[in-house]
Amino acid sequence: MTMINGYPVKIAGTGKYIPEKIMTNFDFEKFLDTSNEWIESRTGIKKRHIASKEERCSDLAFKAGAAALEDAGISAGELDLIVVATDTPDTYCPCTAAKVQGMLGAEKAGAYDVIAGCTGSLTAMLTAIGGISSGVWNNVLVIGSEDFAEVLDWNDRSTCILFGDGAGACVLSRSDDENVRFISGELLADGKKYDLITIDKEDGRDSPVLRMKGSEVFRFVNTHLPAFLKDFCDKSGIIPADVDFWVLHQANTRIIDGLFKRLGASSERTLTNLENYGNTSAASLMITLDETMKAGRIKSGDKVVFTAFGAGMTLGALLYAA
Ligand code: UT7
Repeated sequence: MTMINGYPVKIAGTGKYIPEKIMTNFDFEKFLDTSNEWIESRTGIKKRHIASKEERCSDLAFKAGAAALEDAGISAGELDLIVVATDTPDTYCPCTAAKVQGMLGAEKAGAYDVIAGCTGSLTAMLTAIGGISSGVWNNVLVIGSEDFAEVLDWNDRSTCILFGDGAGACVLSRSDDENVRFISGELLADGKKYDLITIDKEDGRDSPVLRMKGSEVFRFVNTHLPAFLKDFCDKSGIIPADVDFWVLHQANTRIIDGLFKRLGASSERTLTNLENYGNTSAASLMITLDETMKAGRIKSGDKVVFTAFGAGMTLGALLYAA
């Protein structure tokens, strides 16, 4: 766990982009042995959005990034760095962030991608925060963007019903108010569990495919996440019950409900949007942050904990004083 010293870092603006096409649980009933009842009761998902064939990860990322810049009131030319967190980049190389940098015309910005499963955007945030607090950068655009269509096996009912497409973004900047700042952050991985969620080549398939050992992931998260967060809060000098708002990765409402019970924290202090988008992996935390901010759910002075978990297995948390 790291206390974030140095220059204070704030969230200067947020944005999102959700593709138009909607796929409901009922649509899956037409070609899979599944039901709306199973999907909604086991996951909380009612529908998800699917990017069009013409839209790629960079297109979604560009729109979310532009929205965040507008919200922050800064121009692309003022950015020092763009980080795109994704599991579904346009290409292995170059990074999607470089393409987005060109699309935005962010001429002074560097660019790289982060691949850390659903923990990707939190990982990107923490590295950006470290860079701003140490004075390397002033304004960083962090984007989480996913375009799952090509990596899903549409015959695998245990995965394809879970994931959705979309992008979210935030601008992180040096704060002029010492009290508005990220306070601490932590990343953790258990690489021995790297095979629980993978996007990899398979015999007989043209492109890499997403596979997940869902119930093992469920057990891993329920076992490790509450303890990880209790420890994180403890080392950050707070207790979970004192957290004013939680910005959570959206994987399963049963995971979220169980987490609040195990932490002894109020489940009213969060915003869930799984029902609308499904699991958008690296985009999920950023979309949720944007909707939380736009709904006015975070007040001045609030202590906010961000957390995400995913392929790797990876875990992460951030504490923010709003
Ligand atoms: O975001 C990154 C991290 N990812 C996650 O956190 C996901 C964590 N895992 C989960 O959310 C849950 O494990 C799932 C939603 C993926 C699955 O729920 P589950 O309660 O763990 O179900 P299960 O995998 O244990 O499967 C229970 C049954 C099985 O049938 P049998 O063997 O009991 O006859 C599955 O074949 O449900 C069956 N099943 C389905 N039935 C209808 C699996 N998928 C479906 C489906 N429709 N779509």
